[in-house]
Amino acid sequence: MRNIVLLPGDGVGPEVTREAAACLEMISDRCSLGLTFEEHDFGGIAIDRHGTPLPAATLAACQSADAVLLGAIGGPEWDGAPERPEAGLLKLRAALGLFANLRPTKVLAGLEHLSPLRKQFVTAADVMVVRELTGGAYFGEKRLEADMASDLCVYTRAEIERIAHIAFETARARRGRVTSVDKANVLSSSKLWRGVVGEVATDYQDVALEHLYVDAAAMAVIMAPRRFDVILTENMFGDILSDQMSALVGSIGLLPSASIGATGPGLFEPVHGSAPDLAGLDTANPAGAIASAAMLLEAGLGLREAAVMLNDALEATLRSGCWTADLGGNARCSEFGAKVRDELACRLTGRDAHLELIAMNRGCCG
Ligand code: NAD
Ligand code: IPM
Ligand code: MN
Repeated sequence: MRNIVLLPGDGVGPEVTREAAACLEMISDRCSLGLTFEEHDFGGIAIDRHGTPLPAATLAACQSADAVLLGAIGGPEWDGAPERPEAGLLKLRAALGLFANLRPTKVLAGLEHLSPLRKQFVTAADVMVVRELTGGAYFGEKRLEADMASDLCVYTRAEIERIAHIAFETARARRGRVTSVDKANVLSSSKLWRGVVGEVATDYQDVALEHLYVDAAAMAVIMAPRRFDVILTENMFGDILSDQMSALVGSIGLLPSASIGATGPGLFEPVHGSAPDLAGLDTANPAGAIASAAMLLEAGLGLREAAVMLNDALEATLRSGCWTADLGGNARCSEFGAKVRDELACRLTGRDAHLELIAMNRGCCG
């Protein structure tokens, strides 16, 4: 048995999480993976029901889970709350030790036209942003006074080393290139960052390292995305650059992410937020959530074949022209999810895939 905690959250979070969880449930049932699901309040809904975005029961459930699937949190309703939904997300990341955030963007052959950028720029782009997730200005000392405010951006050598190792290992399994993005011409934290990343690189002679300032990187990810394999960067730069990557594929609704630590469960969530403008309309794109579920299967549970199958079903759905409004189509969120599960069903009845999954499940469960 493997226990998945679902945190649907706010806005479109519940809509996209429902579709992603239904895909996981289907794979689990048909392949006897023994996944169980429990849902918990998190974010704004938890503020409304429990007075805090991260209730103790939610945190305890996440800590004892095998993996966590999150929708999105936040919204204008809670902008004035003493503790915002976003603070709950930062607390959860810190409590689970999720220092590495992996955010892949891949332009699928034949779907280049979904990008607002010209085809010649985006064709074959395939970039993994490795974002440090528990340091920097997000977590440094904060002051907010009437006439001054500050957010301290702190990084220690150990924090930089461990995320750099993740980036180099990730590049090794991909195309062997790391671009470290910083602002070492101005920021002390970036000077340390650049030095330490360079030292870690000596352990990875087979991986090419380049350094780029974040302003130049912001241009290059749009103008020359094929230049990049793995982008390694600190917390806030990674937040910004990863949203920017959505221009390559045409919608932030497509992008997934995995947050992992040294031990314990990983947290898997789409890159997008709660999209308050779309909440409750059944129009949000659940592809990022579904792709996050695929990352949960692979990186969270070690079920690679199941992840490949889910990603194949998702790609086939997109290739079939089933698009939500953000991609210029008229498919509903629920219709898109149903189509992915139709595609899954075809693959699950494929005898080889079925047997492979059963064998893998036995292997994992002993
Ligand atoms: P957002 O990502 O929610 O929305 C930005 C734009 O992208 C909007 O036009 C929205 O309609 C669109 N969009 C987002 N997700 C989509 C989807 N699945 N399908 C189609 N279109 C989609 O960013 P925002 O508006 O800046 O933030 C809204 C709230 O979400 C804020 O409270 C913010 O703090 C929060 N947020 C949460 C997370 C998270 O839970 N991890 C991430 C980012 C933002
Ligand atoms: C994200 C979000 C969060 C972040 C917010 C909601 C705290 O933008 O997951 O990208 O900045 O990390
Ligand atoms: Mn973000």
